Amino acid sequence: MQQQMDDLRAKALASLDAASTPAALEEWRVAYLGRKGPMSQALRGLSALAPEERRAAGAQANELKTLLEERFAAKSASLQDAVAATIAQREAIDVTLPGWRPLAGHLHPTTRVIREITRAFADMGFQTVEGPEVEWDYYNFEALNIPPGHPARDMWDTLWLEGQRPMLLRTHTSPMQIRHMETHKPPVRVIVPGKVYRHEATDATHEWHFHQVEGLAIDEGISFADLKGTLYEFARRIFGVERKVRFRCDYFPFVEPGAEMAIDCFVCEGKGCRVCGHSGWIEIMGAGMVHPDVLRRVNVDPARYTGYAFGMGVERIAMLKYGIDDIRLFYANDLRFLRQF
Ligand code: DAH
Repeated sequence: MQQQMDDLRAKALASLDAASTPAALEEWRVAYLGRKGPMSQALRGLSALAPEERRAAGAQANELKTLLEERFAAKSASLQDAVAATIAQREAIDVTLPGWRPLAGHLHPTTRVIREITRAFADMGFQTVEGPEVEWDYYNFEALNIPPGHPARDMWDTLWLEGQRPMLLRTHTSPMQIRHMETHKPPVRVIVPGKVYRHEATDATHEWHFHQVEGLAIDEGISFADLKGTLYEFARRIFGVERKVRFRCDYFPFVEPGAEMAIDCFVCEGKGCRVCGHSGWIEIMGAGMVHPDVLRRVNVDPARYTGYAFGMGVERIAMLKYGIDDIRLFYANDLRFLRQF
């Protein structure tokens, strides 16, 4: 019996040593500790022994069984550790490597510039309002002193919509001057950003759709000096505190007097360069004192109230600010362009 136990122990331990995978280990457990294994058989065989032999043999068999169980548990734990270590190594994360930056979108340069412009005017007390892009002839032209057949209509090549009454895609944001004054009594101070459309061939400086920002201020005692002061402050905010401004006469049917505003070139500081067309000055918007006829049309008494209006092209401002030389880039959806902002 003793010999049998010693042999079994040697065999079992040797094959336990050899088991190097969880599957092999499980096979070993079934073979040596399972119900049909030699351990169970030995224990069952005890009943055939004489009582005096049985005690010693039983103790031996139990001792061996406990030993095998302990060794099995130890081996199983160390195999599990090894498996875990292999997985840990295979799937190791080097936390010191730089991470992947998630691709977040950002604002379009046009949107950014619109926000900068409206912010500058908001700080001077202007409220932002918006109007429709599909517009009546009345608001886009007639109410702005441009009746049918007026030669000034040629200033805006218009995209007309078919219908009984003449509708169009607004050619400028100025119609919102009328719409706003129809529903708001002075004092009025508003900024109108929005999309406008022109029936034009495109080139580096022309698009058939682009954005404008309109401004309107109506109150008692507003003079051209207020217009100049406000736009001067705006130019400094957008193009730098050293800016000089220049106003020259210009014609727009809805203002009198009308003006064109320019700033001294912020690239060459007035010396003359490619950006300013070697003139030293860059025109940035149209402006003027609101025409009395326009005020009368919305039931505002021009003897009591005066005001100014102005309008600028957003993409043009953005092109100047960022040195962009082709307006078509704004809506070409080229990510190489857009990612720069
Ligand atoms: N609406 C004009 C345009 O699109 C720009 C403009 C000029 C707006 C003078 C004004 C203004 O409000 O006073 O060409």
